[in-house]
Amino acid sequence: IGSGYGSAHAKFILLGEHAVVHARPAIGMPLPHLRVRAEARIAPGPLRLETEIHSGPLSAAPPRLDALGTAIRTALAHFGHPEDDITVGVRSGIPIGRGLGSSAAAAHAIIEAIRSLLEVELDDDERFEIVQAAERIAHGNPSGLDARATREPGPILFESGAVTRLDVRFGGAFVIADTGIRGSTKDAVDDVGAFVRVEPVRSAVLLDRLEALTRDAAVDLASDRRGELGERMTEAQRILTELGAGHEAIDRLVDAARRGGALGAKLTGGGQGGCIVALVRSADDAQPVVRALEEAGAVGSWVVTHGGQTA
Ligand code: MEV
Repeated sequence: IGSGYGSAHAKFILLGEHAVVHARPAIGMPLPHLRVRAEARIAPGPLRLETEIHSGPLSAAPPRLDALGTAIRTALAHFGHPEDDITVGVRSGIPIGRGLGSSAAAAHAIIEAIRSLLEVELDDDERFEIVQAAERIAHGNPSGLDARATREPGPILFESGAVTRLDVRFGGAFVIADTGIRGSTKDAVDDVGAFVRVEPVRSAVLLDRLEALTRDAAVDLASDRRGELGERMTEAQRILTELGAGHEAIDRLVDAARRGGALGAKLTGGGQGGCIVALVRSADDAQPVVRALEEAGAVGSWVVTHGGQTA
């Protein structure tokens, strides 16, 4: 009897967020600087959860930990293990509600910690289903993109539930910046869904355009077309704003990134707050953009090169 450990990384979406909820493709990329770590251990008594905001029986945890509780309970049920005698500790370095996949990454870390504690097998599809059970609590109607992208070590094209690992030969770098404003992915997905229902013709045009931008972006990554990718990102930002995922704090950071020399910029993830992603020609060009973003109010920023490595 010992401990089991699990960890998972954050993600950002290069293109295709929201469209992916409406049967279009999206590109997910790892953000390896930010991780969630979980530990599971045998401890007599009721099932316990230890996090920064609650340390005690899972049954007494506050509602905002419901998704973590669902990950724990669904994993234990999957493994046929009773809901007691286990303590799960979770430490997250991923800001919550910023479109960075914090909930999916936490679910992955928890499931792996419990799996390794119990010394049982779990294949990728079973893992995905347990993460999705937790994501449905966190987000309502998750596409599954976050569940896949927080486990993949490199960029992926996610389409109709299937993952294609992208062939990337790209010299550009991405700057992710946090508005500091918490956006609810669930609310943003609901608002975009309402737009799609009320404006079926216009929304089909916009979603089709996002799909084309996403497919072209996959080619940009493979053939190192940086300027074109930047333009596609900026066009996607306009479309996402029209669909209802925008926010004035996002506009402020997108404008600042472009003034700082970025080739393009857009929101990433659910929007309505959260983070932006900007493209710079190379990691060497990132600093002026980071400075411009900080002056415009960004509370955090991370520079990522194509394959997900830290620049
Ligand atoms: C959230 O990271 C991305 C969205 O497309 C929602 C989803 O895919 O479930 C907004």
